[in-house]
Amino acid sequence: NEGALWGGRFAGGPADALAALSKSTEFDWRLAPYDIAGSRAHARVLHTAGLLSEDELSGMLDALDRLEADVRSGAYAPSPSDEDVHGCLERGLIERAGANLGGKLRAGRSRNDQIATLGRMYLRDHASIIARNLLELVRALVEQARRHPYAPMPGRTHLQHAQPVLLSHHLLAHAWAVLRDVQRLADWDNRAAVSPYGSGALAGSSLGLDPNAVAAELGFDSAVFNSIDGTASRDVYAEFAWVCAMAAVDVSRMSEEVTTWATKEFSFVTLDDAYSTGSSIMPQKKNPDVAELARGKAGRLIGDLAGLLATLKGLPLAYNRDLQEDKEPVFDAIDQLEVLLPAVTGMMATLEFHTQRLAELAPQGFALATDVAEWLVRQGVPFREAHEISGEAVRVCEDEGIELWDLTDEQFTAISPHLTPGVREVLTVEGSLSSRNSQGGTAPDAVAQQLTELERQLAEL
Ligand code: ARG
Repeated sequence: NEGALWGGRFAGGPADALAALSKSTEFDWRLAPYDIAGSRAHARVLHTAGLLSEDELSGMLDALDRLEADVRSGAYAPSPSDEDVHGCLERGLIERAGANLGGKLRAGRSRNDQIATLGRMYLRDHASIIARNLLELVRALVEQARRHPYAPMPGRTHLQHAQPVLLSHHLLAHAWAVLRDVQRLADWDNRAAVSPYGSGALAGSSLGLDPNAVAAELGFDSAVFNSIDGTASRDVYAEFAWVCAMAAVDVSRMSEEVTTWATKEFSFVTLDDAYSTGSSIMPQKKNPDVAELARGKAGRLIGDLAGLLATLKGLPLAYNRDLQEDKEPVFDAIDQLEVLLPAVTGMMATLEFHTQRLAELAPQGFALATDVAEWLVRQGVPFREAHEISGEAVRVCEDEGIELWDLTDEQFTAISPHLTPGVREVLTVEGSLSSRNSQGGTAPDAVAQQLTELERQLAEL
């Protein structure tokens, strides 16, 4: 069992089947640079504690530098006999520093506190990449909103025409959701910025090593206050997986709209050629594959989260080998989002909106009926009665196959004497939109204020 991190108490090596099951280098090797950074910090606290001489420390750091260069160039990589990233890197260290010096680094640390720390470091780095990707999507949505400040569209509930809204208002609704995902990642980082290094296997170290020195060197705010919690908890991973899944779901919802909007029946948008695909048999096809893959990947990220939670559910404290299964779900969430988000951003940034058609459809389906009712309320009619009167107007229109604004003054007064010609002021899309001027409303002025607030929150990140 040459090269293994344990073996003294065993008479023989592990069965091939166990070794094959145990092995994690295919997925944990991506943590190698973090493992080496952890080793440097650990060497320094061993030195501070008097367990490595000055010469030994510099020899160790030099060997770690050479090892890191070989890892980065690919000259050093896991061999079939390496169980995990930690064992493989110890082998590489001993090859470079010799068994005497290389064998000293493991004192006072365990793979249990190491892996918990490296995972957090990796997630923190990728959280900031994903946050940047999400911010680019927010900016693409804001850009589209700015390009169409006054264009109306049919606002929907239950997918049915509800009330006219500004296209910019609708696009910014997606922007807010994605912005919150970015804010969540920033908030998550407060909990992720705590280092488990120094927790040892589960109980801490007897060697006088300073966990806060390691934490500071590795970019953490502090070290954990409980070594069992440090090695056994993975809620930070699960929270990360949830935020990733939520971001994917937000992107999936906007993508579902894009696929609908791009149909012949809706004809709200044309997809840019660079963000659509053709068919191998149907020459006319232009398919929204980016949007569909976004929907598909959202399902996959939900699976990553659910799988991770299921792994954690039955685990007693402290470390259990089940926790080796914590990495692939979060790595997968990262890999998927990092390839998905730039494509979705490109798709949203290059969407061409058919504003003429959107404007024509905006008032249809009696989308101004609420405006009639609210106009009546402003004239002093109780809403209950106003709702009835407006509903009656819709019924008359439906019978005659006309729209609300086609009703004559006589028809209006026949429905209710309250319906004087003044009601026509809200029977236009512009009148309807500009009347909804409360904070958060779709009136152009309110949307302009909304944009200012959104930009303010973006600047805070
Ligand atoms: N490969 C392990 C993991 O990913 C590292 C920790 C192993 N610890 C142990 N005592 N076997 O969790």
